[in-house]
Amino acid sequence: GTLLILNGPNLNLLGTREPEIYGSATLADVEQLTTAAAEAAGFTATCLQSNHEGALVDAIHDARGTAVGIIINAGAYTHTSVALRDAIAGVQLPTVEVHISNVHQREEFRHHSYLSSVCSTIIIGAGIHGYELGVNYLDKTLT
Ligand code: DQA
Repeated sequence: GTLLILNGPNLNLLGTREPEIYGSATLADVEQLTTAAAEAAGFTATCLQSNHEGALVDAIHDARGTAVGIIINAGAYTHTSVALRDAIAGVQLPTVEVHISNVHQREEFRHHSYLSSVCSTIIIGAGIHGYELGVNYLDKTLT
């Protein structure tokens, strides 16, 4: 099956964006590592990044019927988007919420996620390894 690897706003700037928080790996590095982990586990991976909320909603809808699971780092939309939450709840695919940084060590406004309660699991603060951990989770839980 296929895993949808979804990255939200500003994650296209990985590598140059606040490297003391997010590290030096680029989005291309993250997508390569995650795709390799997915393929090693017998999945194929479809990677998509968008700065647009509606494009992320569309991608989640399109995953229904084409993907067996979703790994999503929704960036700042995590803390604002009821629409993304409803999309995840609507497609009923196993979904892993990933955050590179430990959002709980950061500003108060990053402590709440609209997505967590509709996601299967949450991986926070593991750096870019969080995406691979997400693949591993889906590998262990999907039959
Ligand atoms: C992030 C954390 C969010 O609060 C932030 O807006 C991001 C990245 C992370 O991966 O740590 O864009 O999702």
